Amino acid sequence: MSPQQPNPTGTRALYGAAALAGHKGALPNPFPRTIGPNAMKYLQEVVDSGLTADMVGRFERAFADKLGVKHCIATPGCTPALAALAAAFNFAPGDEIIVSPITDYGTIQGLCSENYIPVFADTDPGSPNLSAATIEPLITDRTRAILVVHKTGIICDMDPINDLAAKHGLIVYEDCCQAVLGRYKGRLAGTLAKAGAFSFDPEKTMGSDTGGCVVTDDDELAERIRFIGQSRGAQMVPHFGRAHVERGYAYRMPQCTAAICLAQLEIVDEQVAQRDRMIRYLNKLLAEIPGIRPLPIPDYMDVYSCWMAGFSIEPQQFRIDAEEFARQVAEEGIPGAGLGKYYLMPAACTFLQRQAAAKEYPFSTPPASRSYSYSAETCPNAKAFLENFIRWSTFCEKYTAADCERAAEIVRAVAERNRA
Ligand SMILES: Cc1ncc(COP(=O)(O)O)c(C=O)c1O
Repeated sequence: MSPQQPNPTGTRALYGAAALAGHKGALPNPFPRTIGPNAMKYLQEVVDSGLTADMVGRFERAFADKLGVKHCIATPGCTPALAALAAAFNFAPGDEIIVSPITDYGTIQGLCSENYIPVFADTDPGSPNLSAATIEPLITDRTRAILVVHKTGIICDMDPINDLAAKHGLIVYEDCCQAVLGRYKGRLAGTLAKAGAFSFDPEKTMGSDTGGCVVTDDDELAERIRFIGQSRGAQMVPHFGRAHVERGYAYRMPQCTAAICLAQLEIVDEQVAQRDRMIRYLNKLLAEIPGIRPLPIPDYMDVYSCWMAGFSIEPQQFRIDAEEFARQVAEEGIPGAGLGKYYLMPAACTFLQRQAAAKEYPFSTPPASRSYSYSAETCPNAKAFLENFIRWSTFCEKYTAADCERAAEIVRAVAERNRA
């Protein structure tokens, strides 16, 4: 069924442990998550202090120090982190933000709420990420920013993107949900542009209790995120009290979530190192199977903090399509293996095409300057990539070398029995 047609039998999407609950197989499942040994101690401090312990402030300082940035602003998730950033930038309705097409809805929710227009740049062929080459033709007089997503943990080639943005006076910022502590040419994801947004969703690399944050070195931006994104745009007026001088939000991380995030931060280094080691080993094994192409890891990546494992199939080499290939791989024991066609935002966000076709605000002119159209066809490389890409988000720090060998054996067995 096409996502453009409403499905009367469609069920509500599930998230976190509930989303992975049905997945069974011979390989590890990230749930139950490994929790840092100090979690109970920090939670106890929050409770014993009668909610006066500044656990959020402690987590923010610790995460900022880990990344070597001036500011960390903790939020309830990455969706609100990016929404706070979108609001803080204060662009005008109808302004365009160029964004990665293969991502989660959380990347664009804030853009839509602020009545900006998401413009999806295609990916490079064979890659889940956009690049300076795919962004450049989309820059117009209404473009204000570029929002990159480091999909699966593969970091976008940021130097050419930053150079291009500088030439046109555009802001660049990063959705680092899938790339926690990944490194590009020695520099950490989240420190490669104006700001970075993170998710500490239970299923993510630093799995906590659905938290997130923004990091930045920009003092003014940090203050604006706190003011608009957390203090609800309110200023204290003498002899009056709170005056809401701008339309603001209350995206504040709860203290108990900060306690768990702090404990998780203490164990994340080794977990990321293990993810990096295991994905490189798994990719090496997968690359030995004819017709199977692991996701290329660019040479500029010192650390691949891989959240999601995956590979592409060369369809002409097999008698079955990718969907059936993925089904068999899942059945053989890789929990949750499947296609991720729904990551193609121009196809999955059906409300965008409906609004654009009806010229509903902000697609009316003004504030928009032109017409827009949203469908899979607008990003042909991304569409083609997702048609043959099989992924599993159950890949995690629990993988050992033996697990990688088992996963590769499963893929090889499915490949051999279905050769064309
Ligand atoms: C790339 C990306 N961006 C944004 C989000 C949203 O993050 P959160 O669930 O913390 O709101 C996700 C979560 O799946 C994601 O993978």
